[in-house]
Amino acid sequence: MSERQQDRQLDCLIDLLTENATVVMSGTKIASQLRVPHSTFWELIERLREWGADVRGLPGSGYQLLKVPDVLTPKMIRQSLHSGEFGCRIHHCYQVDSTMNEAGRLAAKAPHGTLVFAEEQTAGRGRLGRTWFSPRGTGLYFTVILRPRLAPGAAPVLTLLTGVAVAETIREIAETAVDVRWPNDVMISGKKCAGILVEMTAQPERVEHVQIGVGVNVNQSAVPAELAGEATSLRRETGRAFSRVEMLVSILVRMERYYDILQEQGAAPIVARFGEISSYARGKRVRVADGPSVLVGETVGLSPEGMLLVRREDGQTESILSGQVRPE
Ligand code: BTN
Repeated sequence: MSERQQDRQLDCLIDLLTENATVVMSGTKIASQLRVPHSTFWELIERLREWGADVRGLPGSGYQLLKVPDVLTPKMIRQSLHSGEFGCRIHHCYQVDSTMNEAGRLAAKAPHGTLVFAEEQTAGRGRLGRTWFSPRGTGLYFTVILRPRLAPGAAPVLTLLTGVAVAETIREIAETAVDVRWPNDVMISGKKCAGILVEMTAQPERVEHVQIGVGVNVNQSAVPAELAGEATSLRRETGRAFSRVEMLVSILVRMERYYDILQEQGAAPIVARFGEISSYARGKRVRVADGPSVLVGETVGLSPEGMLLVRREDGQTESILSGQVRPE
């Protein structure tokens, strides 16, 4: 049986025990409802415990879930998600190398709006070849597969769109000031709490599918020492823990709303909204590193497609398509 099939069985077990948390269920009944042999049922109970569940086994009578593990089954997500297409299919992985890789494996057959969500990534990826710290059960790590009607050159606005959706969600739920550092860093108090990675498969004329990856540091109480000066989590900034499902659903609903605006009205409203919420869009002295080349100047707005406009010291304005932007 594949790892993903085992993940689905574990989802079903969690849903079943959660819905029957007030009663003791017999192992035979659970195994038959899950349509698994008794030996598989035992393995699932052990896996469930590994994921932090407290499952009481009462000899002769059955099992009761005393503490629900902090995992998001597709059923839990669907109960709160009333969007149209985003999240129409949900692939839930307990542990995966990267949701970008998993989405890539699924993309050819996945419908528009498919969500790939992981509790833990062993090889989470960031932009510019960096890794994304993805410890289990504390953050949001997901990828949405889209099939937009867009020319490949217009796709970078999807990064801005997602940044806006993530920043608005954090501001509303965590009740804290949020900034977006062009193009993809969501920041609190100058430190990064979320990032976006967009990958695309395209023909010369049209995009085939896009994978939008989002990582949010939600309930991590610590960040790795080497990132301490740069990264943070919502919990570290506010002293509170947050519902990951509420945050995920809010991001997806907002992403879909902005995506519909993009398809109906083009990039302008998205770029304008990004410009409103990002302190980096205008009047900021920045250093932009793109490989070996470094540009220093002041930001003077965004192009209609969402490129960052930087006026160099010699007065020339450059349109930045990619690179690492830092305050100068
Ligand atoms: C960045 O800021 O450099 C982008 C970070 C993107 C991280 C997310 S987590 C979910 C998805 N899977 C990955 O491997 N990366 C993205």
